[in-house]
Amino acid sequence: MSGDETGVVIVDAELAEKAAPLAQRLAADGAAAKLAAKDSTLWGPDAESEASIRLSWTTLHKSSRPLIGEIEALRAELHSEGVDRVVLAGMGGSSLAPEVITATAGVPLTVLDTTDPGQVADALAGDLERTVIVVSSKSGGTVETDSHRRIFAKAFADAGIDAARRIVVVTDPGSPFSELAEKEGYRKTFLADPHVGGRYSALTAFGLVPAGLAGADVARLLDQAASVAETLAEDTAENPAVQLAAAWGAAHEAGAEKVVLADTGSGIKGFPDWAEQLIAESTGKLGTGLLPVAVEGPDAPGFADHGKDATAVAIGAPEGAAQISVTGPLGAQFLVWEFATALAGRLLEINPFDQPDVEAAKKAARALLDDPEKLKGGETPATVDGAVEVFGSEGVVTEGKLADILRAFFGSVADGGYIAVQAYLDRLDDASTSLLRGEIAKRTGVQTTFGWGPRFLHSTGQYHKGGHQNGSFLQITGAVEDDLPVPDRPYTLGQLQHAQALGDGQVLAEHGRPVLRLHLTDRAAGLAELVRAVQEAAQ
Ligand code: PA5
Repeated sequence: MSGDETGVVIVDAELAEKAAPLAQRLAADGAAAKLAAKDSTLWGPDAESEASIRLSWTTLHKSSRPLIGEIEALRAELHSEGVDRVVLAGMGGSSLAPEVITATAGVPLTVLDTTDPGQVADALAGDLERTVIVVSSKSGGTVETDSHRRIFAKAFADAGIDAARRIVVVTDPGSPFSELAEKEGYRKTFLADPHVGGRYSALTAFGLVPAGLAGADVARLLDQAASVAETLAEDTAENPAVQLAAAWGAAHEAGAEKVVLADTGSGIKGFPDWAEQLIAESTGKLGTGLLPVAVEGPDAPGFADHGKDATAVAIGAPEGAAQISVTGPLGAQFLVWEFATALAGRLLEINPFDQPDVEAAKKAARALLDDPEKLKGGETPATVDGAVEVFGSEGVVTEGKLADILRAFFGSVADGGYIAVQAYLDRLDDASTSLLRGEIAKRTGVQTTFGWGPRFLHSTGQYHKGGHQNGSFLQITGAVEDDLPVPDRPYTLGQLQHAQALGDGQVLAEHGRPVLRLHLTDRAAGLAELVRAVQEAAQ
């Protein structure tokens, strides 16, 4: 199969053999056709009510068409006014797809899915005269997105720019943002299809509006999705989504609950970051699920040397240790992975459309924001080593040199477990932090994920709390030099970021998971010390 042709190949013969009966079962059940026809009974009675309002994504290649003209018209209008820089404020399902679409198309989009004050300040420092901000939130109540809206509205006003003319809203009908947009007279509101959940919304207004305004050819994406839609509705064992779901299901049955995702030259930029949300949030619940591990490429630790607890999936042609290969253009891949994830949900006997454990971390963060003492650094570190302060949940070793602490932490990972590195930092200025993933995976031989906080809270965060309970969590937080107030809110962005880290750490600890938090009192120096300590710890 060529890289352009849409398809799924189970390269590993043993896995293909195990997957065959599951593919036959899905085909015999008529699952693919039922899914395409939006049959909400596929996941059992407990999921039926939610599924009945979550399946419109199967036909977005048709229903999203009218949006194209609207997006083009707004883009032309903005350009005629000299407004050609697009900033997107949105979390999880409201930003991951447009980020992949624009990166793949090679058009610039500034994505704000962070509470890091430095990263937001850098976005504000761009040319505001030329800037439009797309405020995207299905619920219309997400605190990060609302904070960005407030900060940008004030910055526009301070610069003498009519903020209302520079804010475009994407939201569900009747949400607080849709009401606010009307009250404030924001430039335009795109109301998305409410019968599509966040992580399945790539081809709704959530994916298409910011990407199209930034200059990506979004009509082509719909064409690509349309080109595979009929095949995905076929009840055959060869249906690519049936193949992918069956392979995941068979691997999971055999104890491989991790899915390691590497791009092998597909031409799609950053697809694993989008896919990890879809898989983790859809399947990671009720103590089961598939843990996506997004890695840097087919030679990366975790993929090249994956063990029996993981399945290696290539996005693109099969390469290296790949056991499964998924090919096709971006629009088609979105649909293949969505169908496959929903079908895998049936095999795993979970509801792929809810996210029962996401709210817990939000609640804990809100409680901390109400307790300013804790946030002001009331907590005392167990150990300070250079520019790194050490905190740990009960039972986690926090005494000694940093390398000793890390050695004990890595050594305590459950058999078949995983390490999750979660960095509440600036994902542009502190980008090198993500190299820790490969470094730790290589040195420990343990599957290791990396997530930027709070972005991952809207993605893999669900799995960490709801999926297989064998993760060990390494949180990294950092000192904030110049904090940003959130207009008309009693907290700063830095306080929000800190509360999110502490809140999620608390919830993980309540789940009995080991949490080691390293706070960098000087980000650059602390990070360098941390890298050295990781190398030393694993010798
Ligand atoms: O898939 C999901 O439902 C989540 O990841 C959401 O997309 C994310 O939490 C953002 O929510 P909202 O679009 O309501 O701001």
